[in-house]
Amino acid sequence: MLALLARPALAAEPLAGLLPSPVLTNADSRTGIDLSGPWHYSIDPYRDGLAGFHGGAAGAGHRRYDDLDVADAMRKDPNALYEYDMQRSPVAKLPGSWITHDRTLRHYDGLMWYQRMFDAAPRPDERAFLRFGAANYTARVYLNGTFAGMHEGGSTPFAFEVTKILRSGRNQITVGVDSTRTADSVPPPATDWETYGGITRPIRLVLTPTTFVDDFWIRLTRNGRIAATVRLNGAQASDQPLHVAIPAIGFSLDGKTDADGAWSGEAAAPASLHLWSPEQPTLYDVQVTAGADVLHDRVGFRTIAVRGEDILLNGRPIFLRGISLHEEEFGENPARDITPEAARALLATAKSLNANYVRLAHYPHSEITTRMADELGLLVWSEIPVYWLVNFANPATLITARRMLAENILRDRNRASIILWSVGNETPQSEVRLTFLSQLVDDVRALDDTRLVSAALFARRVERGGHPEMLIDDPLVSRLDVMAVNTYNGWYTSDPLSSLPSIAWRSDYDKPLILSEFGAEALAGYYDPRQLHKFSEEFQAEYYRQTLAMTDKIPFLRGMSPWILKDFRSPRRQNPIYQQGWNRKGLVSEIGQRKEAFGVLAEHYRLLATKWATSKPSGSGARQ
Ligand code: GCU
Repeated sequence: MLALLARPALAAEPLAGLLPSPVLTNADSRTGIDLSGPWHYSIDPYRDGLAGFHGGAAGAGHRRYDDLDVADAMRKDPNALYEYDMQRSPVAKLPGSWITHDRTLRHYDGLMWYQRMFDAAPRPDERAFLRFGAANYTARVYLNGTFAGMHEGGSTPFAFEVTKILRSGRNQITVGVDSTRTADSVPPPATDWETYGGITRPIRLVLTPTTFVDDFWIRLTRNGRIAATVRLNGAQASDQPLHVAIPAIGFSLDGKTDADGAWSGEAAAPASLHLWSPEQPTLYDVQVTAGADVLHDRVGFRTIAVRGEDILLNGRPIFLRGISLHEEEFGENPARDITPEAARALLATAKSLNANYVRLAHYPHSEITTRMADELGLLVWSEIPVYWLVNFANPATLITARRMLAENILRDRNRASIILWSVGNETPQSEVRLTFLSQLVDDVRALDDTRLVSAALFARRVERGGHPEMLIDDPLVSRLDVMAVNTYNGWYTSDPLSSLPSIAWRSDYDKPLILSEFGAEALAGYYDPRQLHKFSEEFQAEYYRQTLAMTDKIPFLRGMSPWILKDFRSPRRQNPIYQQGWNRKGLVSEIGQRKEAFGVLAEHYRLLATKWATSKPSGSGARQ
């Protein structure tokens, strides 16, 4: 019996071995070559480019990554047989999913090869890295016919050093991207959003000095000090003097790296420091100098904490007036190509809801978006896609999730807008799931002790005194700073909308609650005043009025991110009249048409903003 009670052991790999290397903090600020733009593409549904038809090595006639031009090779050897020709294959603009390259690829799910040529002039005092903002889901990278590296995970950056294989003059880069996911992937195959296979974020050749600042993190601690952590990469990483400076406030730190090339230091924050907030998103130029390398970033300084049922931003209780987003630009035919303009359009629409917070669901969004949130003043919930039926019993799946979490945190921990790291969404409860998610919580604590940890959970619906009650008793909550629950009474249930305000909420924990999702679908422009049946704008608006009335009665509620800002592609949603392959819970349509419910939520947030504007600083005198 005891064996049954013992928690299933998922052998915990040391976190240090799962961290990305290189990190290349703020890589886009470094010199290099932008490799976005026209690439040739060639589908490979049976993966002939990776293995022969009996499973051996791929044949010369199929290796898309070989360092040759097929037309030249065929001219030189008339007997040669090539069943591909990358340089004469169709061309598409990257980044952006292949589903919009041409109509035949709208539903392609498999291996796609991309190739382009570029000129380089490598120098002996430089190192070269091929860096991808993201490629969904597995990417294999080759330079001049040599394998450079492989990455699993569709929403986090990765880079491979190519210093030794980069040529002066013409170079050929080939990438095999496979969108296929298995039951062991993160996420598994069944989700509620379009896969968007392909290279969906910018590609760059990043150049650095031979020893460079690889990982840099600077933040305001809860006791009012500015702390910095630096890790160098290169032959001169150890015992290296370094200097961290925030010139605008006359702040600086000096230090020397240890034998591992690492250093951390801190000092009291100057009184002149303006704290970052949604109302005043102050960003400072920060620079770290180490030997021949100078790395810059633009960073905001603030604190986030919980105290009982309150969430404290810079020591003041706040309410998170939020909305959820997928990473999908406005337009009738999105390709998940998030440019600064696309990110600004999405986040500006959130701001026009009187929001101060966004849930970037269900995977790490583009760095362009998190930097835009820093600039526009929106607090951010950032999450990895540990979504629904993850194979919690598989140690390899846990390693995939841990790597993904570390890649997300190390990419974005200089982003003041991010206040919450989420470790899961609507995962079914079990002992092995609790162990799996608890490990992720431990990793967050180890990588970032300045932010809060949460996860989107389910509440249990019970009857109490003849009334429905939502009870939050998920054992994972004891590991979290903030409880978060997705709830859809009145949409996925037959509750009359008029009954929603009478639904009570109860929790076993003295912690803040965020309603991380609630929502209803409406086809923009579909009105049906005669009867409030589903998919009309009136139904969605009335759903919001009644659900918001319910939220007003939850004493420990400190935030919400209704589902969702914009209609988004989902293969699960195939009602031919109202959905057509789109999840219509957006408050605006895919082309930005505002639905009636948009105004209902915007007014609710206007009143909440007024009510919370007078919140008092926390009891302690120390700066938060
Ligand atoms: C779930 C899930 C979302 C999904 C939404 C819906 O809560 O977290 O990914 O899109 O509900 O059903 O629309």
